[in-house]
This record gives sequence, structure tokens and C-alpha cells, in this order.
Amino acid sequence: MRVLGIESSCDETGIAIYSDTEGLVSHVLHTQIAMHAEYGGVVPELASRDHIKRIVPLVRTCLDKAHLTLKDLDAIAYTAGPGLIGALLAGSMEAGALAYGLGIPAIAVHHMEGHLLAPMLEEDKPQYPFVALLISGGHTLLIKVSKPGDYEILGQSVDDAAGEAFDKTAKLLGIPYPGGPGLEVMAKKGRSGVFVFPRPMIKKPNCDFSFAGLKTAVLNAILEHKSDLDNVKCDIALGFTEALADTLCHKCRRALRECGINSLVVAGGVSANFMIRESLIKLMHSLRGKVFFARKEFCTDNGAMIAQVGMLRFLSGQLSDNCIRVFPRWPLDQLRPL
Ligand code: KG4
Ligand code: ZN
Repeated sequence: MRVLGIESSCDETGIAIYSDTEGLVSHVLHTQIAMHAEYGGVVPELASRDHIKRIVPLVRTCLDKAHLTLKDLDAIAYTAGPGLIGALLAGSMEAGALAYGLGIPAIAVHHMEGHLLAPMLEEDKPQYPFVALLISGGHTLLIKVSKPGDYEILGQSVDDAAGEAFDKTAKLLGIPYPGGPGLEVMAKKGRSGVFVFPRPMIKKPNCDFSFAGLKTAVLNAILEHKSDLDNVKCDIALGFTEALADTLCHKCRRALRECGINSLVVAGGVSANFMIRESLIKLMHSLRGKVFFARKEFCTDNGAMIAQVGMLRFLSGQLSDNCIRVFPRWPLDQLRPL
């Protein structure tokens, strides 16, 4: 059985084929970063138009890479939400048309479930149950995962998501879009301890996050060092990353303790950050537990994670109708159990 996955929720067009017996067979990705860079962020209308242009050629390339044809597919999975509505519609229409034309089912996939289970694409997979830390551009969530499809939200950000905090801080430091990876490069050259920023909400006895204040603290530091900013930019970037990493570790420790679980899965774009990975590895080492990540290219948006979840939902008989349906806002804990 083979499922083709289509990811088009934001600024990356990802296509992949997942087999129930062989796992990930083929995957391709087109990033729109260069197109949006001159505007300093994602322009939704440009994103939608580009997805429309890219999906069909990428499907062809993905099939060619696997020496397969459309007839070898058993279902078409697509990201139905959350995300930019036009971008989602582009993927959902292509998926619906392909499925209808081939006489096979379409399967609506939740983008964050895709991220959450992306570490399952690796050889070293976590066992259920585990606690998941989802850190992406739009979400920061701590989740108890008892089995696939069973997601209990333990905590979330009350304001900016972790990725959003990276992107906004990067902008303040003059780093071009996309800010997260650029800030990581800068932080690597920084001196630890020069800037110690607040660890937001770590004293609150819950698993929620807040990153807006951290961004303000960075802004204040930038204003204070207006005259010699170039000398301290890297130190500020490192101070920000350390504060964010520390806060994530603190809340993960609390969530793991509350659940009595010793296994942590970290997913979403920010989990590509080396320092954040290192901090969480250290944390789990100190707790004698284990942390699982996806490889870097599957931390950010990709088709492989959508094809994989598509296969899970396909095998449990959760097929979509022939309607073009997307959900720009779609709470993860409202998913049907598998
Ligand atoms: O998961 P993702 O690709 O898309 C969403 O579903 O939102 O996450 C994108 C976010 C962006 O905010 C981006 O700046 C951040 O992940 N990101 C990083 C890194 N790579 C991507 N943040 C910090 N360090 C990185 N290396
Ligand atoms: Zn994403």
C-alpha cells in the first residue's frame, strides 16, 4: 500500500510517498524562501500561487525518483490545516482532483500531527506513551501522547509561539527572513552569560509558555546598546536562545514529571536548532530518559510527515469525502482517535 502526501500549509511545497511495508519511499521539497525574502515574511497570495505551480511537477519528480507511476498509489493525503487558507486550498484541490481521477481516497491530515509524528520516520523511534514538545512557527505545545491519535494538551503558549519569538527577535537584530536559522548562526558566535534574559513563566505551576516578554527584553537590550550593537548582536542572539532553551527544558521537566513518563519527542521547525536540541538532550540525560527528534530536514515543513500520517489514517479507514475542505484553525485534540 502506498500513500502520496502533499504538504502546502505555508511556504514549502513538500511531496512524498510512504509505503506500509517499506516506510518512506521518496520525498521532494520546494521552498519559497527566496520568493518571500524580499518582503521580509510570507506573502500568503504569492504562497498559494506558487503551490499551484509546483505541486504537479513535484508529484511527477517524486514518482520518478521512486520508479513509480500514479497507478501505484492507493491514497492521496494532504495537509487540511492548520495553515494559510489559500495555501491549504491549493494542496487540497490537487489532492482531491488526483484522488477523484485515480478513483482512490483522499485523506485530510493535520499539519501538527504530521510534525508530532515526524520522529517516527527515523530508525530510532520512541515507544508510546511519550510527552511531545511541538515547537513551530505558529504553535508551542506540550502534549501527552498515549497512542497515535490520542493527544492530551498539557500546556501551550499564551502569546507568541517559539518559532514566532525566533522570527521576531531575528527581525529586531536585522536578520533577514527566515529569522530562526539566521539567528542560530549568529548565536553560535555569541559569548555566553553576557546577556541573561528572563525565563518567562517558569515559576508558574503549569505547562504553559509565554515568549512575548522575552522579545521585549531583547528589544530593551538592543535599545540600550544602540551605539555598539554590532559588537553585541551575537551575544544577544545567544542570550535569547539560552533563555528560550532553558524555559523549554523547565516546562518539559514539569510535564514529564506530571505524566510519570521518561520519553520526550521534540518536533516542529524550532527543533532543528542545535542549541535547543543539545539542551533537551542534556535534560533527558539528567533525568535518565531519552529524547527523540526528526532529522533536521523533517523538523521543518515537508511532505514525508504528511504521507506518514496519511498512511496511519488510511489504514484505520479514515477517508475524506470528495469535498475540498480545509481548516485554517484546527485544534489538535479534536482529531479522531486512530
Ligand atoms: O514547523 P515549521 O517549519 O512551520 C510551522 O508549522 O510553523 O516551523 C517554522 C519555524 C519558523 O519560525 C522558523 O524560524 C523556525 O521554525 N526555525 C528555527 C530553525 N529552523 C526553523 N528556529 C530556530 N533555529 C532553527 N534552526
Ligand atoms: Zn509546520
